[in-house]
Amino acid sequence: MCGIVGILGTRAAAPLLVDSLKRLEYRGYDSAGVATLEDGRLARCRAEGKLKHLEDRLKATRLTGRTGIGHTRWATHGAPTESNAHPHATDRLALVHNGIIENYRELRGELEQCGAVFASDTDTEVIAHLIDLGLASGAAPKEAVEAALRRLRGAFAIAVLFGGDDELMIGARRGSPLAIGHGDGEMYLGSDAIALAPLTDQIAYLEDGDLAVLIRTGVDVFDADGRPVERPPTRATVTSLLVDKGNHRHFMLKEINEQPEVVGHTLAHYLDLTGGRCKPLDLGVDFARLDRLSITACGTAYYAGMVARYWFERFARLPIDIDIASEFRYREQPLAKKGLSLVISQSGETADTLASLRYAKAEGQQVAAVVNVEQSTIAREADMILPTLAGPEIGVASTKAFTCQLAVLACLAIAAGRARNVLPEAEEARLVAAFAEVPRLMSQVLRLEDGIEAIARDLGRAEHVLYLGRGTSYPIALEGALKLKEISYIHAEGYAAGELKHGPIALIDEAMPVVVIAPHDHVFEKTVSNVQEVAARDGRIILVSDEAGISAAGVNADRVVVPSMPAEITPLVYALPVQLLAYHTAVFMGTDVDQPRNLAKSVTVE
Ligand code: G6P
Repeated sequence: MCGIVGILGTRAAAPLLVDSLKRLEYRGYDSAGVATLEDGRLARCRAEGKLKHLEDRLKATRLTGRTGIGHTRWATHGAPTESNAHPHATDRLALVHNGIIENYRELRGELEQCGAVFASDTDTEVIAHLIDLGLASGAAPKEAVEAALRRLRGAFAIAVLFGGDDELMIGARRGSPLAIGHGDGEMYLGSDAIALAPLTDQIAYLEDGDLAVLIRTGVDVFDADGRPVERPPTRATVTSLLVDKGNHRHFMLKEINEQPEVVGHTLAHYLDLTGGRCKPLDLGVDFARLDRLSITACGTAYYAGMVARYWFERFARLPIDIDIASEFRYREQPLAKKGLSLVISQSGETADTLASLRYAKAEGQQVAAVVNVEQSTIAREADMILPTLAGPEIGVASTKAFTCQLAVLACLAIAAGRARNVLPEAEEARLVAAFAEVPRLMSQVLRLEDGIEAIARDLGRAEHVLYLGRGTSYPIALEGALKLKEISYIHAEGYAAGELKHGPIALIDEAMPVVVIAPHDHVFEKTVSNVQEVAARDGRIILVSDEAGISAAGVNADRVVVPSMPAEITPLVYALPVQLLAYHTAVFMGTDVDQPRNLAKSVTVE
């Protein structure tokens, strides 16, 4: 799972490739590499680790070719070493790949028997050797690529350069996304439009199974059956400016601080704040006739879906099935024809979520997608889109996209309640007024940062941390634990507070911090009993609650005192202290907050 880019240009390609790769680092940063063609000669430069290593290495390497391909890698097959870095090459070609080739072992065995010598442990290299074999037996580049692709099982987007031909590049996709950029006497290809934004805004997206033959002045596209097809470019709306950190030390901190604004925008998009009602949603879905709604997502987006379950069931009396996408896609769950599925994804490219969308569509369901990237594959394949207006999220650990997802889902649940005639108009008005307060309350919580930072220093000394919550605070506990482990590498688990006694209580001792998310709501007293159970075993409690909750809890604890607010909106506001707690713990530990080890922003492989 990686980012790829290709340029048939009129200037030296290598610096432009690196600039594009910077925009693709969200897809992985284990290694990076470029290959260029100059007077028919292929030259490569690759480096382990982040892009800056490749940039340093390029300073000492003369790559002046105007035709080139580039890659930033998230390691799947083979360690993140230079020899496993893309582009992979033979004497006749160089290739970059995003995706996974599932049958690479058998292909590799076969190719080795034919004399191919492999230089890496990757699945990708089999594609290079398969194409090479075709070229060696006299096939033209397009035919050699087509023949190789027919042998592959799995997902891929590829770009290939051919030795001896500076004027040609071939791209193809199955499963993984690939965009074609049209320039002035130049042509480009990339994993997304953002990668190509400094080069052009004229973008065409390849459909699944497409193969594109690019020359400097244009492109011929062939569909999965080999028929010539038109994929006309349209103007992409992504900004050509690289998003910067502003005055913040990390993108994550900047994005945490943007939440009052972007959540405000998102709420204003869906709510008529003056009229105290939801704006009409033109979804083409009659919520009144739905028996259930299934929600699918991964990671943080899944936790947003878990919160939404409580809202849909309470506001709309609509039963919810919720699944992790990687489980849903193989469960063969029977889905009601003409029912509704909801997928949630920041990037809109997560492979498992996309596969779930396709499964639901194949079962005859309508699919609505809550997405942050409106040009993404999920956005394009869904029947309806519910955009989150979070803006580009760069930090790998999702923050503002999460709270914007919550904002959209809350509005949808309220709208569903009205459509199903189970949420009275006055209750709708009360909820809309409550959600309208979220940006202000978020701003207040951001002012608690200094106190949270002090608690984080203590947390940074722990080996394990437990997060507890009940009701809608349970998914926030899960999200808090996920944030902490992904950026600080401290082992953390989120639990439903009521489950404490069924296992995790055995872990409690004086060295075990327990973060309790406990707004003073209808389940508060139950949660307090669980807090007492921790206190009785000398556990270190970090209580995130409001004044009323803190005084009613009556335990010795580190406190994060959040303003009081209606229970329905607490997930949006309580997300912020857990994000800040994870952030400051990671800063204290000295980890790479924005690009934590082994992770990627967008996971385009299974
Ligand atoms: C990765 C990211 C997470 C994200 C998850 C789902 O694991 O690191 O932050 O929540 O993918 O991504 P999506 O783009 O589908 O929301």
